[in-house]
Amino acid sequence: MYKQLAEAKYNELLNKKDWNILAFETSCDDTSVSIVRNGREVISNVISSQIAIHNEFGGVVPEVASRKHIENINSTLEAAMAEANMTYADIDAVSSTYGPGLVGALLVGLNAAKAVAMSLGVPFVAINHMEAHVSANYISSKELEPPFLCLVVSGGHTEIVAVESYSEYKRIGCTQDDAVGEAFDKISRELGLGYPGGPYIQNAALEGDKLAIKFPHAKLKTGEYDFSFSGLKTAVLNYLNNTSSRGEKININDVAASFQYTAVSELVSKTISAAKNYGYKKIAIAGGVAANKLLRETLSLEAKKHGMKLYVPEFVFCTDNASMVACAAYYKLKKGLWDSLETNADPNLDIGEI
Ligand code: KG4
Ligand code: ZN
Repeated sequence: MYKQLAEAKYNELLNKKDWNILAFETSCDDTSVSIVRNGREVISNVISSQIAIHNEFGGVVPEVASRKHIENINSTLEAAMAEANMTYADIDAVSSTYGPGLVGALLVGLNAAKAVAMSLGVPFVAINHMEAHVSANYISSKELEPPFLCLVVSGGHTEIVAVESYSEYKRIGCTQDDAVGEAFDKISRELGLGYPGGPYIQNAALEGDKLAIKFPHAKLKTGEYDFSFSGLKTAVLNYLNNTSSRGEKININDVAASFQYTAVSELVSKTISAAKNYGYKKIAIAGGVAANKLLRETLSLEAKKHGMKLYVPEFVFCTDNASMVACAAYYKLKKGLWDSLETNADPNLDIGEI
């Protein structure tokens, strides 16, 4: 019955100018619900953050995250509908992230989306979280269209992706161990700063000397555009242990600045060199670490030097949000693609994988 209703709705949409997509995002520690019109016009974007809760533990506790999503999901949905000043009759399709992420967390948004899609009889669109991060750029840069090269940097991923079309992604490099966001989070914790580490490290670095400590750059035997951050993370931890065992004072600001500088240099040099070699003139960045100011400034300068244009998402669309999910869903639905209500969460989904 649902299938026929969704098909009829899709046929109706083919003659409708404006498509309002309701989206859910619960892959990690943000409960977010948004409504986006025609992929790029954000009507409402509500994010209920669990940072204060996870900060106590120094990182995300998966079991706690799932429980909090369950507590928050209905009120976040109501807030998104109220902010948009819409009724459910205005919703043309419903979407949710289905992976990658924490399975217990993903299931909350996914099931909420399926329930709403079923009750409204509208198409349900399942979205890859990393493709959603890339799509955040379409919201912030209305003129951006594929093809372009995207550096995707989050708490769980670090990859250089060729975005060949709205639905085709080719990964041309990725981390062989830790994600860069993970390194920011771990070092922040070791320095006694808060969670998530990125903003704390960035702030501490403002008062520090980026050249004070020389941390090593990774030497990799794999692909030219691959990354490794576990060596850098260990080098910082060893520096902290050795300095304190000698009874010397640790300058937190210098450590933060030197670590951030080394990590950002690595990301920028490989992205520029990949863009040069693959012939891309348009570069974008995506994911939580794309909020990093040093990364944005350095990549912007380097891109300009090489005659390339850099696109960056607004800060609110760098970290997890449901608007980017709605945007990705719009382009999937435009191609006539949507999903069955049997779709399950896939915690290990890769970018470009179906
Ligand atoms: O995309 P995101 O919100 O969640 C995941 O999909 O992982 O990314 C979270 C990551 C965390 O590791 C956090 O420390 C990092 O993004 N982050 C930053 C900044 N803001 C968030 N890293 C560096 N600088 C920032 N300003
Ligand atoms: Zn994310």
